[in-house]
Amino acid sequence: MSGAGALNEVRAWLAAAQQPGGVVVLTGAGMSAESGIPTFRDAMHGLWSRFDPTALASEAGFRADPARVWQWYAERRAGVRAAQPNAGHRALADFARRHPGVLTLVTQNVDDLHARAGQPEVLPLHGDILQDRWLDPCPHPPQACTPGPAPEDAGPPRCVICGNRLRPGVVWFGETLPPEVLRAAEDAVRRCRLLLVVGTSGAVWPAAGLAGLGRRAGATVVVLNPQPSDIDGEARLCLRGTAAQLLPPLLAENPEMD
Ligand code: OAD
Repeated sequence: MSGAGALNEVRAWLAAAQQPGGVVVLTGAGMSAESGIPTFRDAMHGLWSRFDPTALASEAGFRADPARVWQWYAERRAGVRAAQPNAGHRALADFARRHPGVLTLVTQNVDDLHARAGQPEVLPLHGDILQDRWLDPCPHPPQACTPGPAPEDAGPPRCVICGNRLRPGVVWFGETLPPEVLRAAEDAVRRCRLLLVVGTSGAVWPAAGLAGLGRRAGATVVVLNPQPSDIDGEARLCLRGTAAQLLPPLLAENPEMD
């Protein structure tokens, strides 16, 4: 469903959800698509239609070929650094600033575009592509692992003491989400009155389960996506359009709310 009538209906739900923690927004890769960052499952341009996720987004794949995976992430990091927040990111951040404490932003995205748009707080379910962490627990405490210089094969730097490798600070397939972030997201979704689900296929769990969790707890769920998604069934309304098209008019100042 799209058009001014549907948008106005969601604006009315937004006005009614004006209370601390009243609104949760869950974003996926589609949120950053108009900033030039590719999504994962688009048939033509999606990362997983061009690259093998088992080789590039799993611990086993990294251990099998650390240099290849590290270089792939270096290219993605460069893409993120070159990208700019789009009108959708900015609309969310502006809304959060105008309504302190109302909106909780939960994202599956590993880019920093919400933060760069000025979003006061973000719950990053899948980590942060611009951060590194150690592949293995440090085996020589109390001395911490210490990164050496970048190796000649352009692979990940290694600890000068034990050879441990740095890896990207993202959640890979088969790994658990940061428990405190997931818990905070679940709590927020259970508490909210309106849950906006923006730009996600709903194919990856447990993130996808947040929509159903919110609906069962009594939230009105609205999906914003130009295409059908796996979690449309949880939604009271699906707005068909892009994040940068839909979010600015949806979140624009409203005399009833501002
Ligand atoms: P997907 O690539 O699975 O889905 C992207 C969604 O965005 C699709 O439903 C598109 O229709 C929609 N979309 C495309 N352009 C859009 C736009 N301009 N505005 C709004 N929506 C748009 O990405 P995710 O659902 O985020 O995991 O994928 C979930 C996880 O799978 C990712 O976090 C990643 C990946 O493997 C990790 O990195 C751990």
